Amino acid sequence: MNQTSSFRPVRPRRSVLYLPANNSRALEKLTGLGCDSVVFDLEDSVAPGAKDEARENLRRFFADGRAATLPAGMETVIRINALSSPWGGEDLLAARGCKPDAILIPKVDAPEDIHAVEDALDQTDAPAGLRLWAMIETPRGVMNACQIARMARTDGARLDCFITGTNDLLKETGVAALPGRPWLASWLMQIVLAARAYGLDVLDGVYNDFKDDAGLIRECDDGQAMGFDGKTLIHPAQITPANKAFGISAERLAEAKAIWEAFSLPDNAGRGVISLDGRMVERLHLEMAERLIEKASRIEARHGGDQIT
Ligand code: COA
Ligand code: MG
Repeated sequence: MNQTSSFRPVRPRRSVLYLPANNSRALEKLTGLGCDSVVFDLEDSVAPGAKDEARENLRRFFADGRAATLPAGMETVIRINALSSPWGGEDLLAARGCKPDAILIPKVDAPEDIHAVEDALDQTDAPAGLRLWAMIETPRGVMNACQIARMARTDGARLDCFITGTNDLLKETGVAALPGRPWLASWLMQIVLAARAYGLDVLDGVYNDFKDDAGLIRECDDGQAMGFDGKTLIHPAQITPANKAFGISAERLAEAKAIWEAFSLPDNAGRGVISLDGRMVERLHLEMAERLIEKASRIEARHGGDQIT
């Protein structure tokens, strides 16, 4: 097993919108939305009596060509019910048939929960490019986050991204939901650290009050400072603030390009550390700069230069 901590390929995941798969009206709206990723939900936002309808709705959406009209670069993810639930097996088969970019596994407690889905996918010869995302949202999931993240380093692993499920964590622990998330913060940081130790992306939980713009912006800014790659969202109105908070400023991009150019000079070839405008710059900064430039180019390819501000 490779245990080094190099970074994985880059994708912008600033804004990741949940969409209940039985909500046909919301599905029709999706093409016009500017989120980086969409999570079609078969789990908690779909009532038990609507599970079959939601699954069929999603199958049709992918089969009849509507999914193909989504903007190029919008990542598609399907959240299934847990395999231990009455719906999980059917969901997994349906999700695999839809050929999304990733399947999101809810309430992951331990590495075995990922193994079970990987084994089921391997039995159906699922393409190697199909990724798995994991919701970390139970007390055991938080405590085992490191062992779960470590699976990303096994050969052929599909694990690519963690989502923190803050509503479930609050429910499971009894912690108070307060502005600034003082009692949740240490667990969130534990999840961020586990993800980073093994090169996974990690996304912040949702902000339920979708009419409270100021509160959302505050929480996005907090999430960005805590190291999250982006925020999971429940409403289209939350996309622009998330894209802004987790976006790339023209200033940061210019700085990254300057670092890249400096290391490209023949004099600096093979040097581990250089001086740039009176500051020490190391190869680790070059690695960070390259990731930022790649992310910015993907954002520009989809949205034009307007979102680099
Ligand atoms: N994705 C895409 N479109 C959405 C959307 C979403 N998550 N949420 C709302 N919309 C659409 C609505 O369909 C509506 O479209 P219309 O103007 O064509 O009618 C428009 O945005 C405005 O919606 P609004 O009336 O403000 O909200 P609502 O009362 O219809 O729905 C929620 C509010 C919270 C129920 C809804 O946003 C939702 O279901 N969000 C996702 C919840 C979820 O997935 N939770 C699980 C993860 S925590
Ligand atoms: Mg949940």
